Amino acid sequence: MRTRLYTPRWRELDPPATAATTEPGSVLVVAPSRDHGLAERLIGQYRPGIGHVVRLRLGEAPDALADRLGRVPPPSRVYFLGGLDDGLDGAGWDSLDAVERAQELGVLSLFRVVTSMLAAGGSERPVELISVTAHAHGVDERGPLRPFSAAVFGLTRSLAKEQSSWRVGCVDVATADLTGNSAGAVAAALAAEPGHPDGNEVVLREGRRWTLVLSEAEQVAPPAEPPFRRGGTYLILGGAGGIGAELAVHLARRAAANVALLGRRPLNPEIQRQLDRVAAAGGSAAYFAVDAGDDTGMAATVAAVRARFGPVHGAFHSALVLRDERLDAMDEATFTAVLAPKVRGAVVLARALREEPLDFLTFFSSAQSFSGNPGQANYAAACTFKDAFAAHLRGTGVPVHVVNWGYWGEVGIVAKAAYRQRMASVGVHSIDAAEGMRAVEAVLANRLPQAMVLKAEQRVLERFGVRESGPPQPAPAAADPRRGAGWDPLGGRALDAAPDGDRLLAAHRRLDDLGAALLLAALQRMGAFESPGERRPAATLAAALAVAPSHARLFPTLLDILVAAGYLTRDGQWLTATRAVSGMAARDLTTEGQEVAARNPEVAAHVDLLSTCLDRYPELLRGDVDATAVMFPSASASKVEGVYRGDPLADRLNALAARAVAAYVDGNDGTDQVRVLEIGAGTGGTSASVLAALRDSGDRVRYVYTDISLGFLRHGRRLFGAEHPFVEFRRLDIESDPATQGFPAGGFDVVVAANVLHATRDLRETLDHVRYLLKGGGRLVLSETTAFSPFATLTFGLLDGWWRATDPELRVPGSPLADVPTWTGLLRDAGLGRTAVLSPAEVVQDEMGQYVLVAERTPGMPQRRRIGRRPGGSCRRRSPKCSAGRATTSIRTGRSPSTAWTPSSSSSW
Ligand SMILES: NC(=O)c1ccc[n+]([C@@H]2O[C@H](COP(=O)([O-])OP(=O)(O)OC[C@H]3O[C@@H](n4cnc5c(N)ncnc54)[C@H](OP(=O)(O)O)[C@@H]3O)[C@@H](O)[C@H]2O)c1
Repeated sequence: MRTRLYTPRWRELDPPATAATTEPGSVLVVAPSRDHGLAERLIGQYRPGIGHVVRLRLGEAPDALADRLGRVPPPSRVYFLGGLDDGLDGAGWDSLDAVERAQELGVLSLFRVVTSMLAAGGSERPVELISVTAHAHGVDERGPLRPFSAAVFGLTRSLAKEQSSWRVGCVDVATADLTGNSAGAVAAALAAEPGHPDGNEVVLREGRRWTLVLSEAEQVAPPAEPPFRRGGTYLILGGAGGIGAELAVHLARRAAANVALLGRRPLNPEIQRQLDRVAAAGGSAAYFAVDAGDDTGMAATVAAVRARFGPVHGAFHSALVLRDERLDAMDEATFTAVLAPKVRGAVVLARALREEPLDFLTFFSSAQSFSGNPGQANYAAACTFKDAFAAHLRGTGVPVHVVNWGYWGEVGIVAKAAYRQRMASVGVHSIDAAEGMRAVEAVLANRLPQAMVLKAEQRVLERFGVRESGPPQPAPAAADPRRGAGWDPLGGRALDAAPDGDRLLAAHRRLDDLGAALLLAALQRMGAFESPGERRPAATLAAALAVAPSHARLFPTLLDILVAAGYLTRDGQWLTATRAVSGMAARDLTTEGQEVAARNPEVAAHVDLLSTCLDRYPELLRGDVDATAVMFPSASASKVEGVYRGDPLADRLNALAARAVAAYVDGNDGTDQVRVLEIGAGTGGTSASVLAALRDSGDRVRYVYTDISLGFLRHGRRLFGAEHPFVEFRRLDIESDPATQGFPAGGFDVVVAANVLHATRDLRETLDHVRYLLKGGGRLVLSETTAFSPFATLTFGLLDGWWRATDPELRVPGSPLADVPTWTGLLRDAGLGRTAVLSPAEVVQDEMGQYVLVAERTPGMPQRRRIGRRPGGSCRRRSPKCSAGRATTSIRTGRSPSTAWTPSSSSSW
């Protein structure tokens, strides 16, 4: 895996498709005195009497603000306007007073508002919180005009991840739009703003909305010649730390540089060793003890560096303090300790270097600026400030670059084996020193203003919303789902308006948060992780809790879910409960589940299935009760069926599949019938859409509806038989050779497979069977879930079929699913070369995790190229061992997994 560079750019958004709550119970506006009248205009958006304005007072004790907040009714919608006053009026970027004032009214006040609300039980109520800043982002080359409020962005991003029942957003406005004719429109736009599922900020300018996306930086190579002056002088703030020390040695090696290392500690033997390393690499080094926040001390230090080495040619800000804590447990001292070196420290450094002939000033920031992880609101806030301040400085002519590092596992603050392992388990790999230094040189030589440097798997990049490169593009009016080599398998067919992908993703995220809480509660009922600090060895935990051997693959994935949710930390083989576990006793998860379902009706059936399973988890995990008995009570699929009915995402995927089949049928001008085969039709969710689209095609179509389960075939015949005379119902096990089941080679023009192929043991062999069934030029219409889903793991992961893959290298870790690049590669290898990937909905900063892929069989490829290529490798012929008691689990539609379920006696259902 390579370390790559990703650059941010602006992308225009459509107006929000889903409005914020129209009639909230109580509205709170927290505003500075200088708010351009926005607080009152916002209150005016609601019916009289429900709105309250609390004014921020500079220098007010946090307790006093909390007290005033406690005197208004608990709000269901909050506007935080503290970011409007950044104190820059009349002052320049180098005003330390302005930066302090901006933090006080902005990010610190927001911290106080949020922590007061959480302390008053706010996490148990749904809250919509919109923070507003002014010009803290710039959507053009000039960068932000007023960057000092930008720490609010990072806090908001982390808060959104920590509080699953809150909907959080941040909108950056232009002050010119807050007065005159547009003022009312801005207030209305803010009142309509639903917030982003990840808390990402939206920029509003003259009625248009913009968001940040990341693209891989193309053709950015490290230079042949180092971008440093030979014998030049370089200053590294935080230079005795992990990355700073590597950089110092690199500068010495590449440019025989003079390097000044700055840090707070007095010189000690460890720092002396770093200086010796620099000297050994051909440079000169000196250490200066100074605090980045000490303006006078920093000015004196720069003077001392000049005196020692001459003018400074380049500088790096590599200082950092890290103190992770969720906001509901974080005190203000912890919050400000992390802000200080990056907020005040960045401004002080830039001030101290004002007179130096800098070739560059490089700020080390973090990928946190784009992710905002839970438990790191302070660090994320510090990083978004640093990025915005750098962009502002650049606009004033200072040659500033920002490097948003991913993860360094060999040196630096988090270079611990356990941390490395944990990061690798979530798909983020360690940048080594050589790669890191090449990235620094590439950024400087190519004059990249800002780049995220990351070594990560596709699933992580998708979470970062990494998109294709290119200049900022206005978004099309309606998201066009077609993506793929100039090929439109829908034949130009129009689609209804796309569902709001962001809203759907947010709903599923809430569902996953609920799932993690229910899982923790279940493990607590089994006697584990009842109090913070409880340590358990991961390797023996399953045995200690008497988890059945049949769940040997599920159980570690469950622990990963708890780690990702912040309930546990992992240190090598040890798992430790965090403070977050202590709140469980006070939580009413039944009510929380009802609220998630009420606020997000598209996942109501999911909540029901999740709660049904998690209520019985101790018995299920111990093998005292069979999962099929819980999920399919009285042999009924109704509980599971509900998961994929009425979900707008499922409906959209089914519509895409149906249109792809109809487009093929309509485009066929031959006299022969078009033969369509559906694999794993299950409860008929996708079949219903496809058959409806084909109803008018009359006798031009023959449709073979198949499933491995005779029960599902009977169900399908009941549903569709009478009204669709062109449908034939047959049993097909796609894992076995179709020839031996009486299916002819090349017998079908179109094969439809909706969330079933991942449920097979060997994807390559399965696709060989699909290719066998298709004629040359025929099409596979494949609907698949392509990303890990905690919900699916917690429910369908209980079934043996979920874990039957024998090709784990192809699957998304912890699941049987494959991602889009894997599918397209497999399809190509299987002779289904021309592929289009259709997305059901556009989302702002994430991938959908659900796609319809349409692939065309390359004419002329041998029909049975690979069948039988792996002797004994998979269950080609149904032996008693292969079929007994098998539940083939698949995700059917939407982000809504279900089961192509085969009860233990498949012929009896
Ligand atoms: N390591 C990673 O994986 C990673 C990931 C993303 C971003 N980054 C960024 O990369 C940079 C370096 O990280 P690192 O891992 O090398 O961290 P590190 O090993 O902790 O080094 C940071 C150094 O900053 C110094 N420092 C902290 N506060 C200071 C202050 N007020 N004034 C002066 N010096 C101060 C510390 O020295 P004293 O205690 O002696 O002051 C420390 O040696 C940071 O900017 C960080 O945000 C790192």
